[in-house]
Amino acid sequence: MTAVAERMAATAELLSAPPFSDRDDAVCRYAFTPGFAATVDHVGSLLADAGLRVRRDRAGTLWGDRGAPGAPRVGVGSHLDSVRRGGRWDGVLGMLVALEVARAAPDLPVRAVAWVEEEGAGFGQLLLGSRIATGAVDADALATAIRALDDGRPFTEHARAAGMPTAACTESAAILDGMVAWIEPHIEQARVLEDTGTRLGVVDRIAGFVQGELVVEGRADHAGATPMALRRDAGLLAAEVMLRLEELALTHGAVATVGDVVLTPGAMNVVPARARLTLDIRGPHDAAVLGTLEEVLAFAGERAVARGLRTDYRERSRQPATVLDTGVVDALADAARVEGIEPLRMVSGAAHDTMVLAPYVPSAMLFVPCVDGLSHDPGEAVDPADAALAVRVVTRAAHTLIGGRDG
Ligand code: GLV
Ligand code: MN
Ligand code: MN
Repeated sequence: MTAVAERMAATAELLSAPPFSDRDDAVCRYAFTPGFAATVDHVGSLLADAGLRVRRDRAGTLWGDRGAPGAPRVGVGSHLDSVRRGGRWDGVLGMLVALEVARAAPDLPVRAVAWVEEEGAGFGQLLLGSRIATGAVDADALATAIRALDDGRPFTEHARAAGMPTAACTESAAILDGMVAWIEPHIEQARVLEDTGTRLGVVDRIAGFVQGELVVEGRADHAGATPMALRRDAGLLAAEVMLRLEELALTHGAVATVGDVVLTPGAMNVVPARARLTLDIRGPHDAAVLGTLEEVLAFAGERAVARGLRTDYRERSRQPATVLDTGVVDALADAARVEGIEPLRMVSGAAHDTMVLAPYVPSAMLFVPCVDGLSHDPGEAVDPADAALAVRVVTRAAHTLIGGRDG
């Protein structure tokens, strides 16, 4: 193994356990848990050691760069937060590539960025840091609507307790100043690369998504004494919606998931009075995503009437399908070829901060294979040689993109 590959594997391993994770059987850190804080501090100090001027924005995004103020920069990075039971490479790979690019090319005006709360595990909102930086989420929403899943307190309160003066979160926009290109290296999170024996993918499109919560209200009744015909069972509507969602996704060419269902009061001998289910619908074409959503909500409404129930849908966030920049895609593909790899052009089914940044900065992503396509799981694994290959490709592409513009 090369020194770079060894270093990346060792750091990913270090960050996969306490104190960098809040649990010891998986990676768990979301804004602003102790594991998240420790990880941001540690990666910040590694970036500083690599010669970058490191800062935190007002919402908790970590960034560091070098070069003359106001000069063009190539942004490289991803995120350091995780899902609640995640693996060691999701997000971390992009940050370790940014770190190694900074080390490998001391003259390159690179800007490393770890966007805060990409996964939405803390506040139920995907891609929060990049949406703050681009002005898609404002200070008012952070102080009111966007609340912690754990305790219901607003983002601003949590951020302030963690030392982030979020009242001035609009200053996050400075992260984009002078950024002439953005590259997010990431694990693929599926198994197309592995199955085709390809070591690199260049992403030219990211699937759009909509995420929300459907709440069904019925009536709690005795599970033995209440005849079936007299029930208003919220759980049964949840079950109907889950199955209908699968059919609709297949019909429209989308993917859809109910990843979290809570029945209340949640007792074996009580008819559920309430069901809360999350809806996650995605696809490379917005019409498929929105068509699936519209039809599943209409179905839920009709079935609720038939069952004597009420439904309420609250959207958490949505993002359209995003086409990435041809210039950055080509720079990555050309750089991969110089390294002897013909990369696969790919659509990312997962969401990434890159889809938020793409309208503002020419952007693309580089994928490396993950073993068995496993991700959002502690079993997530990467060949460190592929991680080191990504460093060489991104360094080369960044040089091309900065071109004669280096100030
Ligand atoms: C983020 O990983 C997502 O696509 O949910
Ligand atoms: Mn993820
Ligand atoms: Mn990720």
